[in-house]
Amino acid sequence: MLTTSLRMLNEHYQFLNNEGEDVIQGLTQSPKTLPPKYFYDDRGSELFEKICELPEYYPTRTEAWILQQYADEIAQITGNCELVELGSGSSTKTLFLLDAYQKIASSCRYIPIDVSHGILKSSVLKLQQKYPNFFVEGLIGTYEQALMKLESTFASSRMIFFLGSSLGNFNPQECDDFLKQITRTLQPSDYFLLGIDLQKPKEILEPAYNDSQGVTAAFNLNILSHLNWRFQGNFDLNLFNHQAIYNQSDAQVEMYLHCQKSHEVSLEALDLQVLFADGESILTEISRKFDLLKMQKQLETHGLKTVKIWTDPKQWFGLILCQA
Ligand code: AVJ
Repeated sequence: MLTTSLRMLNEHYQFLNNEGEDVIQGLTQSPKTLPPKYFYDDRGSELFEKICELPEYYPTRTEAWILQQYADEIAQITGNCELVELGSGSSTKTLFLLDAYQKIASSCRYIPIDVSHGILKSSVLKLQQKYPNFFVEGLIGTYEQALMKLESTFASSRMIFFLGSSLGNFNPQECDDFLKQITRTLQPSDYFLLGIDLQKPKEILEPAYNDSQGVTAAFNLNILSHLNWRFQGNFDLNLFNHQAIYNQSDAQVEMYLHCQKSHEVSLEALDLQVLFADGESILTEISRKFDLLKMQKQLETHGLKTVKIWTDPKQWFGLILCQA
């Protein structure tokens, strides 16, 4: 018999937790911004899955190729350990890792963590069927909530993995804070596996975030629908346009929603009214593109020592395994 093992990390804290405080912060500053985690309601996670299949969006398939090639080697190096995935989504790429661990261990613990309830539930169900000898427990919550929870639970050895270059959503300060929290959560000799998108020409980057089918545009606009249902908002999606550009000097793709008409938006649950000017934009996401050697050094300053690095033949994407 299968029971879905899902735990909500924010169950009782939604309101104590100042839910939406970050939205107020972002929309009342100039220029306006929104935290990318609000992309991922159930609809947003579905759209992201579609993005991963787009011909222009190379990161997912490139990272999947690396994982397919080297998952066995990763499992050989770490041996059996508790596998914790931050931002697991559909866990599709993770299957390569789980297959590799199944070969070396009779049983294994996998803890996928995601903010999107719908996608986590369906992937945990699928995984429990595919790997009956594994213990799979999904945690619904943010990275911060998850890392705090993990800090207080003991595992004899553990690998936290953070794939898909989601680290790229953090600015340098947030990135530093995040890595600090990772180090706090890991015991000495635990592992951290990080997937990062690497710097490459604008001609490849911009189409990846401006696909010809408009899926990325729908994904970007969906952040407003999410705010509408979650915080009783009245964003009119027709008044905003998607744009993505590569900012070469900061080595980051920037995704914006441009407002086409001056108007006021309200988010009742947050008791917030926001004025938008004609042409004003919201920065909804940065997606930083990294340099492998610099990242290796940065990880080292956090006490994360590189064990091995893998990449693809074009060196478009990198996978770093490090040890605390
Ligand atoms: C999941 C954050 C890595 O930045 O490439 C895809 C999200 N945004 N297309 C990325 C995204 C637009 C993606 N990350």
